[in-house]
Amino acid sequence: MISKEQILEALKSLQDPEYRKSVVELNFVRDMMIKENNVSLTFVVTTEDPAYQAEVKQAVTSGLGALGVSNVHIRFRSITDHEREQLAQSGVKAATKAASVTNLLAPESQTKFIAIASGKGGVGKSTVTVNLAVALARLGKRVGIVDADIYGFSIPDMMGIEERPELVDNAIIPVTKHGVKVVSMGFFVPDNAPVVWRGPMLGKMLRNFFAEVNWGEIDYLLLDLPPGTGDVALDVHQMIPQSKEIIVTTPHATAAFVAARAGSMARSTNHEILGVVENMSYYACGKCGEKEYIFGRGGGAKLAEELHSELLAQIPLGAPDNHISESDYAPSVYKADHTTGQLYLDVARQIVSKLD
Ligand SMILES: Nc1ncnc2c1ncn2[C@@H]1O[C@H](COP(=O)(O)OP(=O)(O)OP(=O)(O)O)[C@@H](O)[C@H]1O
Ligand SMILES: [Mg+2]
Repeated sequence: MISKEQILEALKSLQDPEYRKSVVELNFVRDMMIKENNVSLTFVVTTEDPAYQAEVKQAVTSGLGALGVSNVHIRFRSITDHEREQLAQSGVKAATKAASVTNLLAPESQTKFIAIASGKGGVGKSTVTVNLAVALARLGKRVGIVDADIYGFSIPDMMGIEERPELVDNAIIPVTKHGVKVVSMGFFVPDNAPVVWRGPMLGKMLRNFFAEVNWGEIDYLLLDLPPGTGDVALDVHQMIPQSKEIIVTTPHATAAFVAARAGSMARSTNHEILGVVENMSYYACGKCGEKEYIFGRGGGAKLAEELHSELLAQIPLGAPDNHISESDYAPSVYKADHTTGQLYLDVARQIVSKLD
């Protein structure tokens, strides 16, 4: 009868595709049972790729066949997060990932993080995120957006992104549009399907947006938060303690009151508030230019004062005239020479002078 050592010896030359190391060295061959000429074992895999599993089957069958084993039963099992951590702790790195993914969250990272938050939904966080990102890119900065609104993702649509990210060397390559690199949950759910996860999965996805994505060099990374002070906002606060914040509100007093909660959350987690953007501040008459304050006045200024911060901009009502160019349709991006586009450029300049 053959021994476990002989089995391992026969499989030694087989390499895991992600770690580029011997599967035996990685301890991926487990639970070996030997009964006369029959062997069963568990094989830990880092990929669901059927081609790799077929390759393993072939290698195991022929390797053990040469030792006189006539029957091999292999159970494939995916590597667990815990096992990955253990490997990382013992200094084993995933060859492909380590080579290509720059870790924006590493202490030596130069990336500046700005989370866009609000107390209420629908006040324009995503609109502000997209346009501030594009404005920073127009100033020559290297900019990324993480659409951290995992249930309510909207960034791809707002920017007119139809393509999906590519996978290169096991890392996700963000989609670039209007000079901004974007990663969103919207890229990974088919056909606008709803996301039905609970808290812990959301945090895990957020983490993957950094660990699994090859961002390259990024000066400013903007995070579009979901409304309010829920799980994801907390995850961001904990994952990226160095992040700064911009609070978005409408001019109405109650909106500003609710937004103050997002502000105090930022403060209690020591996130510096860069300022307040008041959105939907007024409607400027197309003919005479007179401003009508449809949703009331003063909410943004009052909030900024309450947060000991400043009012960065008052953005008027009005949709962008949708076509940056024929090929570059983006429903929510204002052109650089649009009055609102100019306001966003001004916010971008203020941010740069605060942070650079
Ligand atoms: N200044 C504006 N003028 C006209 N429409 C606007 C303006 N700002 C935002 N909108 C529109 O209001 C709606 C809500 O904006 P947006 O999605 O940016 O808000 P949000 O705070 O991100 O919402 P949610 O909380 O759902 O994520 C969108 O349809 C957007 O196009
Ligand atoms: Mg939004």
